[in-house]
Amino acid sequence: MTETILVTGATGTVGSEVVKQLLSAKGERKDIKAAARSANDSTLRNLGVQVLELDYNKPDTISTALRGVDKLFLLTPFQSNMVDLTSNLVNEAKKAGVKYIVKQSVLGADAEPGITPTRLHRQAEKVIEESGIPFTFLRPNFFMQNFVTFYSNFIKTQGAFYVPAGDAKASFVDVRDIAAVAVQALSKNGESKHIGKAYDITGAEALSYGGAAEILSKELSKKVNYVNISDEDARKGMKDMGADEWTINSMIELFGITRAGYLSEISPAVEQITGNKPTSFSQFARDYASAFK
Ligand SMILES: NC(=O)c1ccc[n+]([C@@H]2O[C@H](COP(=O)([O-])OP(=O)(O)OC[C@H]3O[C@@H](n4cnc5c(N)ncnc54)[C@H](OP(=O)(O)O)[C@@H]3O)[C@@H](O)[C@H]2O)c1
Repeated sequence: MTETILVTGATGTVGSEVVKQLLSAKGERKDIKAAARSANDSTLRNLGVQVLELDYNKPDTISTALRGVDKLFLLTPFQSNMVDLTSNLVNEAKKAGVKYIVKQSVLGADAEPGITPTRLHRQAEKVIEESGIPFTFLRPNFFMQNFVTFYSNFIKTQGAFYVPAGDAKASFVDVRDIAAVAVQALSKNGESKHIGKAYDITGAEALSYGGAAEILSKELSKKVNYVNISDEDARKGMKDMGADEWTINSMIELFGITRAGYLSEISPAVEQITGNKPTSFSQFARDYASAFK
């Protein structure tokens, strides 16, 4: 029987990779749908996936998009009301008879007492647990792709990027590896191996931001400097980039636990679940070189 899989956050960094990899997974009878705030999203349409309108703030779009869905990849943007957004979605998923949810969470969601990003993701995970819908939680570390999203403009124009991380190490993960884990879980009968599990998802090594700068310099054949800044300067920088106070405070908390060394854990999950070693930072730098030049 053909299964219907709906990917939320499908225009974003992780969701777009999940859609691409689901579409290219061979030999599976499945019907892939991508949810976007605009059903006319041209990037998704060009991938050849069916695009459905779904806006977390418009309940009618949620119930319509979930009709007939068997499996859901659930990703909410990181914002203060993300637990409410998750509740709305999960309530509708239950009504629609969704049988399995793979949720994008965050490394350390189970840490006590945690910090704002981990606490909110854990609360959202609990909403899913309490719904009774079978689930798998993906808990990734910092994305390698953050270097593209947040730092590439600085690297292009100033040959430097600015982070309040000291010389602490983090096990950055490539979002393509997160997507590969999601695709395994969403594959036919994949859920049988992964139901009820929460996976920490990391790269194969922990790198300092200085170490990442060295690799970028080598792979891009241009000098890239990491500048360790104070929390105060980081606050100012994020404000200048348009971030709101809540987001800035959350990021400062996150860099605090980074400096304390809590994000250096190495998890075997990517290789165990996909059969492939996690993408190295050097490989990431080569694959995304054009974004930094
Ligand atoms: N960055 C990291 O290092 C990191 C690490 C671990 C976990 N995470 C978690 O990963 C998630 C972010 O993933 P990402 O980077 O792939 O996200 P992203 O690139 O920022 O994309 C967010 C997605 O959410 C959609 N969205 C936003 N508001 C919406 C709404 N009202 N209704 C429906 N869809 C909406 C966006 O659609 P539009 O195109 O319409 O805006 C987009 O597809 C967060 O939960 C974050 O906490 C991030």
